[in-house]
Amino acid sequence: MKTVGLWIISLTLVISVSSQVFHWGPCPTPMVQPNFDLNRYLGKWYEIEKIPATYEKGTCIETNYSLRPDKTIRVVYARTRKGKVRTAEGTAIIQNQREPAKLGVSFSYFTPYSPYWVLSTDYDSVALLYSCTDVLRLFHVDYAWILSRSRSLPPETVYHAKEVFSLDNIDISRMVPTDQHGCEGGA
Ligand SMILES: *[C@@H]1O[C@H](CO)[C@@H](O)[C@H](O)[C@H]1NC(C)=O
Repeated sequence: MKTVGLWIISLTLVISVSSQVFHWGPCPTPMVQPNFDLNRYLGKWYEIEKIPATYEKGTCIETNYSLRPDKTIRVVYARTRKGKVRTAEGTAIIQNQREPAKLGVSFSYFTPYSPYWVLSTDYDSVALLYSCTDVLRLFHVDYAWILSRSRSLPPETVYHAKEVFSLDNIDISRMVPTDQHGCEGGA
């Protein structure tokens, strides 16, 4: 039963992400932020670049992380599309206390937690996030984000971030900048 369920999830994933990036073989196994400190990570982050997912079209993309009383992480994702701000609320959790930088995130009661790993962050300027899902161990689909505490980052910081992804065997050739111009409180 479980296998059938996984098949269906995988197939759904394949169909729904057909415009995404596929890579043969299992997910890479990047290093994550050592001693990840969730409290310092909370708050607002702006998206600077990403490997795009179809549901993420828009500009002025930002995410605000806060703790709920039950210790789960409230994830409020906001983007502007066709002049309107659209938000989505999700939940992130630390799935294993021994690896706190390996978060899981879900934006609906009906979907399982997806990996949401903090590969690297200094907490007050930049964060590198990565999500990868194996499909039948034959191939994988992945997403990556460069986040910043402000609406822009110096080009050398972005360059360095991409280097970190590449050294972890993450293909960032389809990474694109997120438009953060003309946004509230921005440039
Ligand atoms: C982020 O969300 C928290 C909890 O809802 C809120 O108190 C805080 O003001 C928000 N931060 C920003 C910068 O919007």
